[in-house]
Parts: sequence; C-alpha cells; structure tokens
Amino acid sequence: MEKAESIWMNGEFVAWDDAKVHVLSHGLHYGTGVFEGIRAYETPGGTAVFRHRDHLERLRRSAQLYYLPLPYDVEEMRAATNELIRRNGLASCYIRPLAFRGYGELGLFAKSSPIEVTIATWPWGAYLGDESKQTGIRAKVSSWRRISPDGLIPQAKASGQYLNSILAKTESANAGYDEAILLDDRGMVCEGSGENIFVVREGQILTPPHSASILDGVSRRSVMQIARDLGYAVVERDIGRAELYLAEEVFLTGTAAELVPVREIDDHALPCPGEITQVVQAKFEDALHGRAPEYSEWLDPVDEPSRVAS
Ligand SMILES: Cc1ncc(COP(=O)(O)O)c(C=O)c1O
Repeated sequence: MEKAESIWMNGEFVAWDDAKVHVLSHGLHYGTGVFEGIRAYETPGGTAVFRHRDHLERLRRSAQLYYLPLPYDVEEMRAATNELIRRNGLASCYIRPLAFRGYGELGLFAKSSPIEVTIATWPWGAYLGDESKQTGIRAKVSSWRRISPDGLIPQAKASGQYLNSILAKTESANAGYDEAILLDDRGMVCEGSGENIFVVREGQILTPPHSASILDGVSRRSVMQIARDLGYAVVERDIGRAELYLAEEVFLTGTAAELVPVREIDDHALPCPGEITQVVQAKFEDALHGRAPEYSEWLDPVDEPSRVAS
C-alpha cells in the first residue's frame, strides 16, 4: 500500500510508521473491533468525503452492537478525518477508521481494556480494478455461507466477521475468479465478499433485503435512490441462486469497488455491461465525483471550515 504522512491515533496525529499497537491488544486476538471503509473524491468544489456521516454513523452502530463504547462521537471523528486528509495532502483517498479493544486484559469479557480509535487515509484505486468497472468481473458462488444472525451480527461491520469474507474471497481467487458471491444461511443470494449485489430481471432492479443477512451498504442505499430517481423499479426481495444465471444484468456495489458489472457467474455468461447497469453507474460516478448537483448533500468537503471563512 502507498503510505501517507500521518495516521490519527487516539486523538493525535502520528507518523505513519509510528502508528503501532501492543501484541497483546484484545482486538488482535479475538477480532474485537469495528471499522469503516470510506472514500474521498476530487470534485469541482475540492476534495470531499462521500456520505461521511452515514459511514461514521454505521461505525457507531457497529460498535454499539458489540458493546464497544466509542470514546469519540461522530462529529469528532469526522473533523479528525477531514483534518487528516488535509494534512496528508490527498486529493482523493480511501479512509479506514478502526475502533478496537486495546491492551489491558485478555479475558473474553475485557471491560477494562481501552477502546482505541485510529483513522488512516491513503491513495487506493478501485478495489476490483479500474478496467473491470467497464468490462465486468467473473464471480463464483462461494461454498462458504455468509455469517448468520444466529451466531454473529451481519448488520455490523466488525473485524472478526471478515474471516468469513476472507474464506470466500480466497476460495474464489484460488479458483481463478475475481470475486465471491455468498448465499445466506437459507441458501438465498446475499452479497459479495465486500460488496452488495443487484440483479436485473425483466427490467426490474432486484437486491436482497436486510433479512438476507446483508451489510447495509452505503453504496447500496445510494444506488437504490439513484436508480429510483432515474425511474427504475427497485425491489428488495429474496433472490434464488439460479436467478443469478438467468439475470439480464448483475452488478456489485461497495465503497472500495464502487459499481462493478458482473460478466460471468459460475461460468454462465451474462450480458455485460448491461444497459441499466451503465446508466446507473454513470449517475453514481457523477454523484461520487461531485458532478450531480442533486446529490451534492452526500459530499462532505474536507476544507469546509476554511472555505466558509474565506
Ligand atoms: C461484507 C460487505 N458487504 C457490503 C459492503 C458494501 O458496503 P458500502 O457500500 O457501505 O461500502 C461492504 C463494504 O463495506 C462489505 O464489507
């Protein structure tokens, strides 16, 4: 990864190479952490973070679900992130806030271990490749099921839960595919290893509902709104595995990957990039890059205080 100058760590800006933790930190042993993946884009109005508060609100909710009291509120973390981006001089970047149980005690009920909070920013291109946003990716339905609400909390973006995504991603990569698609514990389509999924059938845009163990993706919500504003019918409903193979179009959405068409699933070719995918993708890209005034409230300019002052 490409280093930046500083990382924000527990209220202070420290040099990238000095942002270190103790090996007995609780989160390292048990995955007791929650995190976010956010992006800032270069826009005509300067660098701006996409749906900044929405992501930090999700971080707050993830922490709450795992009984991790955050020592900073959303506004404090938002201000720290904007200041960090300014300090690191990044016109666009990926943003990774993380809150985890730190060093103190190692029992499972380690209430006295402090909650540490870090924010890192660095330049990072599209997760599944810039080219794939045009040409589409090849996906494989994973033999690993998405974590079930019986044992974990699919709505939370928690560190330990990502072992599930890593198993699926590793299996698909080892088999020569670009991404994994996980089914939920009932065998219904859930999502990619780090993206939500949309399936076009008979002109309607379908996406699995919250009851299918999905993560409530910020990109998913944005794309649903954009598609509806464009006049498409967007339906949240359970999707069977075979519907993936019979789809007119399939695409994935996520902060890291952005909006990526799928051109093949389990060696079934799909029309790609589909017409609806292209229309929605173009508007989504406009929203991310500040070219869609109707969605300008989604952008949080990092230099807002100085712009207001001037
Ligand atoms: C498992 C999983 N599903 C879906 C998403 C997409 O969420 P978002 O659009 O908020 O990045 C992500 C990425 O954070 C993810 O890790």
